[in-house]
Amino acid sequence: MSDIPEVSAPVQWMRGWNKHLNSILKASDEDLLSQPIGHVTQQLSRALFVADVEPEGMDVLEIACGDGRTSCHMAKLGCKVQAFDAIPTALEVSRRRAELMEVSENTIFELSTMEEFQLESYDIVIALQCIQYLFDEAISKLKEIRDSIRPGGFVAYSGNIPPHFETEPKIRFINPNELKEIFDGWTVHSYGTEETLLKPDDLRGYVWLVARKSTN
Ligand SMILES: C[S@@+](CC[C@H](N)C(=O)[O-])C[C@H]1O[C@@H](n2cnc3c(N)ncnc32)[C@H](O)[C@@H]1O
Repeated sequence: MSDIPEVSAPVQWMRGWNKHLNSILKASDEDLLSQPIGHVTQQLSRALFVADVEPEGMDVLEIACGDGRTSCHMAKLGCKVQAFDAIPTALEVSRRRAELMEVSENTIFELSTMEEFQLESYDIVIALQCIQYLFDEAISKLKEIRDSIRPGGFVAYSGNIPPHFETEPKIRFINPNELKEIFDGWTVHSYGTEETLLKPDDLRGYVWLVARKSTN
């Protein structure tokens, strides 16, 4: 794991994600391309349509992009996507996906961490299942993200909430009230919570938000 920068999440968690990403890397081109985009990404696409916003040329940042599915989907819509993750395999999978989807020109995948990456300003910021791994810094990072979004821009966020199995250290769940407070005044395009049984005895809670900042 010497090629993975030290981050707030414990090394064994990073190893787990790395293992998962390595298995995706071994998949055939066909299997890689057949992986569906997630619910929150679908909701973000719908939000752009409902808001009558043309995605072409929008500046998108995806934080902790994992296997790059969401970033490549946004690039396919015409957005200019910058994405980063702390695990080199994530970038390898993402770049391969971008090539297969013919969106390499619209995507930049970088090795960086949520702790170090300097946010600039964006039309869309996507942060799915990642901010919580900053623990005590999670809330302040989400506020930084909010402040980095241009007028009329969008955020797509998801994170865990209870129920969740015990972890050490404890995940910093950003609860629905905190989330709504941080994005107070924004137009909510999609918000929800759900519980999903991922495997026997592993019921997990989720909260998501797709919201638009006012245009002025
Ligand atoms: C649960 S996965 C989510 C991946 C992707 N956002 C998605 O929703 O499919 C968590 C991701 O966060 C990344 N990650 C965890 N801590 C990080 C950090 N401090 N900086 C950058 N990436 C980090 C991991 O490498 C992993 O790809």
